[in-house]
Amino acid sequence: MNNFIYEIPTKIYFGENQLQGNLSKEIEKYGTKVLLVYGGGSIKKIGLYEEVINEIRSSKIEIYEFSGIEPNPRHTEINEAVQICKEKDIDVILAVGGGSVIDSCKLICAGKYYDGDVWDLIIKKAKIEKALPLITILTLSATGSEMNGTSVISNMETNEKKSVKTPLLLPKVSFLNPKVTYSVSKYQTACGSADILSHIMETYFARNSGLYMLDTVMEGLMKTVIKYAKIAYIEPENYEARANLMWASSWAINGFARMDKEPNTWICHLLEHQLSAFYDITHGLGLAIVTPRYLKYVLNEDTVDRYYQFGINVWGIDSNLPKMEVAKKSIEYLEEFLYKDLNLTDNLTDLNIDNSNFEEMANRICGNGKVEAFVDIRKVDVVKIFNACL
Ligand code: NZQ
Ligand code: ZN
Repeated sequence: MNNFIYEIPTKIYFGENQLQGNLSKEIEKYGTKVLLVYGGGSIKKIGLYEEVINEIRSSKIEIYEFSGIEPNPRHTEINEAVQICKEKDIDVILAVGGGSVIDSCKLICAGKYYDGDVWDLIIKKAKIEKALPLITILTLSATGSEMNGTSVISNMETNEKKSVKTPLLLPKVSFLNPKVTYSVSKYQTACGSADILSHIMETYFARNSGLYMLDTVMEGLMKTVIKYAKIAYIEPENYEARANLMWASSWAINGFARMDKEPNTWICHLLEHQLSAFYDITHGLGLAIVTPRYLKYVLNEDTVDRYYQFGINVWGIDSNLPKMEVAKKSIEYLEEFLYKDLNLTDNLTDLNIDNSNFEEMANRICGNGKVEAFVDIRKVDVVKIFNACL
């Protein structure tokens, strides 16, 4: 087990009716001019926009707006928002939306203090030295962006999707009201749940795992996602289901679970980010297609023990069966969950993706070397895994 430092300073308001009185109070701690940022308008349909505006108007805070953030957010739209921040000398950013809006806002926060294209901050051409404070109101349980310091941004001109991570980008405050996720479509509920599950699995399937306590927590989180995703999919207004998914989404990727793991590479995410970068597909769907193929590819006598534990503790498979049988069954159960219970597409061909870019995508992940992960991966392996997804 490795040493680690753990610190998550994000304050969480969880549950219903938490905005009133608290949102303005929290914004005022950081200034008087707020930029409200949101996506394509779902927050207006569900009445959240009005609620936010009314709450802020009851204070002396000046509100500016930037809307239209797209899923798989682009650096170009973030540059536009940064311009507003500079012109109006904004003090605080308020993100209202899913991971795309929150990730964009993180880069807006950093962009306020950078004179140049924000893409430079993503590709580490320039370092993030300072950032505006960020407050979020989460509307979709998936990415965990509400409680971590990562921003994932796309450059559609170069087909790149990359991330930057620093504690400077951690939200100061996040409001998590499960009710605002009632309107999330079945498809986005399924994709979001696949994403949460993947965040836990990327950590769980690690080479060393010397902390039983964390393994047990992760198994509990995975069972939570599997149980409640199915319920939320069928009953979108089931509070308990939405609440469990929401809190699981934050804890899956706020750094808590991954502390003792080395190497820390999230290999399925690397594969998926290439798919989103080239084909603009939904992140969770890409993960749902890639993850079972990756697990099949790296299953062998050396890795089987991890699958065995996963099969027994997460899926309840009979521990008396041979290890390899349990391992294979665990992947089958995962597929059943993703493709039958959540009705997600199980292949890339249905998304009109063929093998024409696989070599280039693999090259971008591994170059001529290898990526160290649960099992080390080279270019040739990546191409094989992508081909298995067709
Ligand atoms: O744009 P609006 O109108 O808000 O609609 C969105 C969007 O169309 C809609 N939606 C959100 N909340 C809703 C709602 N519709 C109805 N009711 C609501 N309450 O859902 C659609 C998808 O939204 P998006 O924000 O794109 O989804 P998600 O939260 O899954 O975010 C995905 C992005 O986050 C990145 C992904 O790569 C992707 O770019 N990730 C960020 C991570 C992080 N910051 O740590 C880690 C993840 O692994 C991931 O890479
Ligand atoms: Zn993810």
